[in-house]
Amino acid sequence: MAEHGAPAPAIPNGGCAARLPGNKVTVVLGAQWGDEGKGKVVDLLAQDADIVCRCQGGNNAGHTVVVDSVEYDFHLLPSGIINPKVTAFIVFDFHQAADGIQEQQRQEQAGKNLGTTKKGIGPVYSSKAARSGLRMCDLVSDFDDFSERFKVLANQYKAIYPTLEIDIEGELKKLKGYMEKIKPMVKDGVYFMYEALHGPPKKILVEGANAALLDIDFGTYPFVTSSNCTVGGVCTGLGMPPQNVGEVYGVVKAYTTRVGIGAFPTEQNNEIGELLQTRGKEFGVTTGRKRRCGWLDLVLLRYAYMINGFTALALTKLDILDVFPEIKVGVAYKLDGEIIPHFPANQEVLNKVEVQYETLPGWDTDISNARTFDELPVNAQNYVRFIEMELGVPVKWIGVGKSRESMIQLF
Ligand code: GDP
Ligand code: IMO
Ligand code: MG
Repeated sequence: MAEHGAPAPAIPNGGCAARLPGNKVTVVLGAQWGDEGKGKVVDLLAQDADIVCRCQGGNNAGHTVVVDSVEYDFHLLPSGIINPKVTAFIVFDFHQAADGIQEQQRQEQAGKNLGTTKKGIGPVYSSKAARSGLRMCDLVSDFDDFSERFKVLANQYKAIYPTLEIDIEGELKKLKGYMEKIKPMVKDGVYFMYEALHGPPKKILVEGANAALLDIDFGTYPFVTSSNCTVGGVCTGLGMPPQNVGEVYGVVKAYTTRVGIGAFPTEQNNEIGELLQTRGKEFGVTTGRKRRCGWLDLVLLRYAYMINGFTALALTKLDILDVFPEIKVGVAYKLDGEIIPHFPANQEVLNKVEVQYETLPGWDTDISNARTFDELPVNAQNYVRFIEMELGVPVKWIGVGKSRESMIQLF
C-alpha cells in the first residue's frame, strides 16, 4: 500500500523483526454500551505514551476528559498522533444525510428507528462493504480518479434516496481543499504501526470507541454500531498481528447506561434510573440525548470478557452510587423461570429475560476524595471485590470523580 512510488520504509533489523516480539499495544475498550469513561482512562494512560491511536468507529464516539477543571469533548481524535485517516474510510456529507433519511424511513416503515448518532457511520461502513467507498489513500492520490469515483458514489446515493440533494461540484471543491491540507499528515498505517512495533521501545495506546455490546458482530444487533468495537477490531483496524496486543483494559461503569434503542435487561425505568441519570450527568456527548440507566449487569460483562479477554478492568463512576442505601447487581438471566446459560443473541429473547439480582449494602458516604483503596468505605470495597470475584478479572482502577486525579490505582 506504499503510495506515489515512494520506497517502502525499511524493515528494522534486516527483515528479521517479524520474528522478534516487538512492542505491545495497550488497549482500552468499552465493556458495556458505551460511555463507560474510556476517554478518561486513555487520558490517564496517555500521559507517558508515545503513540495513541483509534482503530475503528468514527465521530459517533464522544469522550469527555477533564483536566485542570477544563472539560474537553473528543469525537474522532482523542489524540491525533497516529493519523487514523490512512486506514479510515471517508465519511462524506451525503453519508450523514443518508443516515438521517434511513432513520426516518425506519420510523415510517417499522414504527421505530435505531437511534443512531446520525454521523453517517452506517452508510459509510455500508459503502465500504459494497466496495464503492472511498478511502484517504484515494483522496491523496490522483484527484481526477477520486473525482470520478466520488461522482459514481454520489449518484448511487441520489438514485437510492431521491430526496437527497448533493452539490457534487461544491463537495469536490471542498474535498480538494481538505486534501491539500491533510496530505502531508497522511501515512500508510501498516508501515507506521510496523515501525512503531519493531523500532525502539515505545508505549503505544489504542483507544476503543463505542463498546462491546455495540459491536456489529457481537453486540445487541441490530441496535449496534457498524464497526468491530471488540478486541479483534484492533488488529483489523490498525493492520497489526495479535501477538503485539498486550494489556487489554475493559472500562466498566459501576452501573449500566445505554443511549438509543434496544434491549436493556437491568434498566431502571423508575426513580433509581432517574437518580443514576442525574447524579451521573448521563447525557450523550455526541447527541445530547439522555442516557438510559440501570444496575450493573454481570451477565453482559461476562460475555464482553469472553470476547475481549480483559486483563484488568477500570471501574468508573463508583462515586455515583454513594447515595444508594442498597445496590443491586444483575448476576443471571432467567427465561420462563429457568436460568439461561448464555447472553441471548436474539433481541426479542433479550427483551424477555428476567434478571436475577444480588443485593449489596450501599456505603452512604462521599467517596470522591478517596485516593487509595483503603480509604474507601468497606461496603464500597466489597462492591469492587464482588465484581472481581464474579468476573474473575482484577480491577486496576476505580473512578471516584470526573477529574484526572479522581482515580484510585490498585496495582
Ligand atoms: P467514553 O465515551 O467511554 O469516553 O465516556 P464519556 O466521556 O462519553 O462518558 C463518561 C462521562 O463520565 C464523562 O462525562 C466523564 O467525565 C465522566 N466520568 C468518567 N469517569 C468518572 C468517574 O469515575 N466519576 C464521575 N463522577 N464521572 C466520571
Ligand atoms: P462512545 O465511544 C454510546 C450507539 C448509538 C446508537 C447505535 C448506532 O462515546 O462510547 P451509530 O451512529 O454508531 O450508527 O449508532 O450505537 N452508539 C453509542 N452509544 N456511546 C458511543 O460511543 C456510541 N457510538 C454509537 O447511540 O444506539
Ligand atoms: Mg462517550
